[in-house]
Amino acid sequence: MQLSFIFLFLQLWRNVDVSLSQNACSKLPDVPHSHVSEDTKKDVYQEGNVIHFTCETGYISGPTITYVCSPTTRGWLPARHGQGACYLKPCELPEETPNGYYQIINGEEFVFGTTIKYFCNAGYQMVSKNDTRTCLLDNWTNHVPICDPLSCELPPVDEGVTVIGLPENDGSILPDRFLTFSCDGPGKFLNGSSVLICGKDGRWDNPFPSCEDSTPGVDQMQPHLNANAALGCGTSPSLTDGDTTETLRFHHRHEERVYYRCQNYYTMEGEPYKTCINGEWIGQISCLKPCTVDEDAMRSHNIDFRYGSERKIYSRHNDRITFKCTERRQPVGTLGMRFQCVDGKMHLPTCQ
Ligand SMILES: *[C@@H]1O[C@H](CO)[C@@H](O)[C@H](O)[C@H]1NC(C)=O
Ligand SMILES: *[C@@H]1O[C@H](CO)[C@@H](O)[C@H](O)[C@H]1NC(C)=O
Ligand SMILES: *[C@@H]1O[C@H](CO)[C@@H](O)[C@H](O)[C@H]1NC(C)=O
Repeated sequence: MQLSFIFLFLQLWRNVDVSLSQNACSKLPDVPHSHVSEDTKKDVYQEGNVIHFTCETGYISGPTITYVCSPTTRGWLPARHGQGACYLKPCELPEETPNGYYQIINGEEFVFGTTIKYFCNAGYQMVSKNDTRTCLLDNWTNHVPICDPLSCELPPVDEGVTVIGLPENDGSILPDRFLTFSCDGPGKFLNGSSVLICGKDGRWDNPFPSCEDSTPGVDQMQPHLNANAALGCGTSPSLTDGDTTETLRFHHRHEERVYYRCQNYYTMEGEPYKTCINGEWIGQISCLKPCTVDEDAMRSHNIDFRYGSERKIYSRHNDRITFKCTERRQPVGTLGMRFQCVDGKMHLPTCQ
């Protein structure tokens, strides 16, 4: 046992001794992500030998990495000061996708092996099968994914159901589009909503309706039929000097109300809403104009505001303003000095 141990020790010592005396530069420099190039590779190196390193796939270096077997140290020394290393090859910036964006899902830089994932902005959906791309040696895998606007599915083809409002040329159904359903022929009724609106999320607001046989004598079905028969309305009417308080929609249900407001300084006359009644908008609203009291006009009439606090350019419909003559002037006529603003018009008294 002891003898074999000594023998092993001697054997090791001899190996070390041989490598020191014969194999100068036997220990190769450690250059991560590279290997010694085939044309400079040898089994045994001698002083003065030169080796080059080739970077692994996906890595590059600046100038070729070169080491020289030094006669003085009997070890490898870089041929150039600040010898380079192999680093990951940078990539071209990936292309943007309209209506979407991408994020790196591994690492922080655009280098060989980086994978990015594309996402679509709100209101858009990815129509490409693969939303990830990886940087390879020359390019990014896959094509730039495409984000299309969200769209609603087409209604099923159902004989006997008439659908109005489908886009032409089999175009996609974009949010806010509405379809109107009705049943062909007598003795049929529409089971479900007669109008479906495609939502911002690309979903219909109601299930597709179907046409059923109306069985005579089944009276409880009648109210259902009537409710669906009432017509909805299109876009709410515009209002001069005002607007609706909600965003424009293309369809409104029967009995739905749309509220309005007037521009600043304008005064609303009538209820602040219109109601969709069986296809028609019911309700009278107007926005009455304020009066502009023009200082030039006042000067030409030789008048001024009676009260300092009334020194305002706009007065609302129905507001009254009291005037006075400027110094040493007398009013003309008998209408007095107090006047009311009526839908943008105000009489000005005259002094001379
Ligand atoms: C997407 O493409 C990558 C290559 O960039 C591939 O590895 C991956 O399997 C693909 N994914 C799908 C779901 O096809
Ligand atoms: C990337 O480059 C390889 C080889 O150069 C080519 O075969 C492949 O089609 C390219 N891929 C794309 C998405 O351009
Ligand atoms: C109407 O449609 C609903 C849901 O699809 C269904 O449950 C119901 O039976 C239908 N009514 C008639 C009278 O067909």
